[in-house]
Amino acid sequence: EKAGYKHFMLKEINEQPRAIRDTTLGRISLDTGKVFLQEMQITAEDFRNASQITIAACGTSWHAGLAGKFMIERLARLPVEVDYASEYRYRDPIADPRAIGLLITQSGETADTIAAQRELIAKGSKTLAICNVVGAAVTREAQGTITTNAGPEIGVASTKAFTAQLTALFVFALHLAQVRGTISSDESKQLVEELSRIPGKVEEILRSVDDQCCQLAKSFSTARDFLFLGRGIHYPIALEGALKLKEISYIHAEGYPAGEMKHGPNALIDETLPVVCIATKDPNDPSSVLKYEKTLSNIQEVTARSGRVIAIAIEGDDTISQLVEHTIHIPQAPELLLPVLEVVPLQLLAYHIAVRRGCDVDQPRNLAKSVTVE
Ligand code: F6R
Repeated sequence: EKAGYKHFMLKEINEQPRAIRDTTLGRISLDTGKVFLQEMQITAEDFRNASQITIAACGTSWHAGLAGKFMIERLARLPVEVDYASEYRYRDPIADPRAIGLLITQSGETADTIAAQRELIAKGSKTLAICNVVGAAVTREAQGTITTNAGPEIGVASTKAFTAQLTALFVFALHLAQVRGTISSDESKQLVEELSRIPGKVEEILRSVDDQCCQLAKSFSTARDFLFLGRGIHYPIALEGALKLKEISYIHAEGYPAGEMKHGPNALIDETLPVVCIATKDPNDPSSVLKYEKTLSNIQEVTARSGRVIAIAIEGDDTISQLVEHTIHIPQAPELLLPVLEVVPLQLLAYHIAVRRGCDVDQPRNLAKSVTVE
């Protein structure tokens, strides 16, 4: 049932090209660049009149939501709020009937996420679900669902469901942008083409970085703490890299926005601290290039204090490899799609470290696959 893999987690990491492809299947047209969603009770008119999107989710799904905020705001020019579902209803949230609630959940059974959905509905918002399980509780109360077609996820640590969520969010952001007229048909077509190339690029990463992550695990599996840094849409991926490591290897890890380091965490850096820096850039996107340059100087601050940097960078980026101890290279993609690629080496790194530490990778202590209590 593990198809020859040692753990479900490794099998599921390797299933990501298919999970991503299946999540785009029947939803995108390469010829026209158009994006289609399943039929739902939220109309094009609702999307045009929307005042904002309110995302609520937990854990890894919340990280997908944070990345989704960048996709939706950038493409559809609609404000997005992202909440922990477990916090949402306790702050008497300001919601209005023109706000559309978006619940992101692999299982569709997470009690906190269901509670947030009920709060949104009580305030008059329509809700949409991004969910991996057909017919799950959240989808039954939602006015529409975008199913992630990742297939059953057995490993407690979410991997393929996460990249499928990022894919669904990208598709949703493109759809919103098309309905709201905030994107040209040329740009749509280009982005849809780029999206269709992502599964192949993930395959390439799986082939090229697994050995390297296994080697890195040898050097770093005894670390006491880890930092993960990223800026903009890469920051949620830093959070996800830290969560993966924490939950399966029990090493303390934190994700931080790279620019916040000088406001405190720099004090932690010494020669024992591994710092994973996401330092990718999309050369066609000026804000991405600017962010990259700022991240470079954050990396220099870490190396100047003898921190041990593992960088995630784009193929052919020699500037980074000359600056740091270890660089993991990934293929080029547009800024909003890079997260799908960046997270793969972080999953593998966490996996190999946990295996070296003799941890139960598929069933980490104290955790359940779906959390049905608030
Ligand atoms: C982490 C993980 C959890 C879940 C969270 C939400 O790897 O799996 O953080 O993401 O419990 O679960 P769902 O997405 O089922 O609502």
